[in-house]
Amino acid sequence: MGPGSDWNSVDGEGSRSFWTSMEKTLIILKPDAVKNKHIGHIVTRIEEEGFKILGMKLLQLSKSDAQKFYEVHKERPFYDDLCNYMISGPVVVAALEAPAAVQKWRDLIGATDPKEAAANTIRALYAESKEANAVHGSDSAENAQNEVAFFFKDGELIG
Ligand code: CMP
Repeated sequence: MGPGSDWNSVDGEGSRSFWTSMEKTLIILKPDAVKNKHIGHIVTRIEEEGFKILGMKLLQLSKSDAQKFYEVHKERPFYDDLCNYMISGPVVVAALEAPAAVQKWRDLIGATDPKEAAANTIRALYAESKEANAVHGSDSAENAQNEVAFFFKDGELIG
């Protein structure tokens, strides 16, 4: 837990053994989700699952935005296709907050390949393929901080 972290009672009784650290995560609704008119479905799910939306933007990424954002994958064979895919239409980026938000979002979206995603996860419901897989989520709290800062300036987040 870093300075200024909030702690939240998961069991509602204030029992210390069930307290979990409040966390941010960065999510992207990818071009297939926007094109297929799933923004509303996915935002409804975000609200129903108890995430707080701190910031949200509809954006058209440039090629250099996509290359920088996915730089960690630059040696992977799918990197160029992924970057081209991410600029093929508008995306929605959002910063969410919840106790253990990074893992909570990853559980909610399911496996990278929608064919392997558990029933009722966002990718099982809305994704087209491993590349056009509807949503992105940060993979660690540290990366989430960097990814939130990639899309949101200081002072742009609510809360
Ligand atoms: P995302 O969570 O945004 O992080 C990296 C993305 O790379 C991933 O979702 C997929 O969309 C994409 N990806 C991962 N593996 C492959 C693959 N084998 N082929 C194509 N795209 C992939």
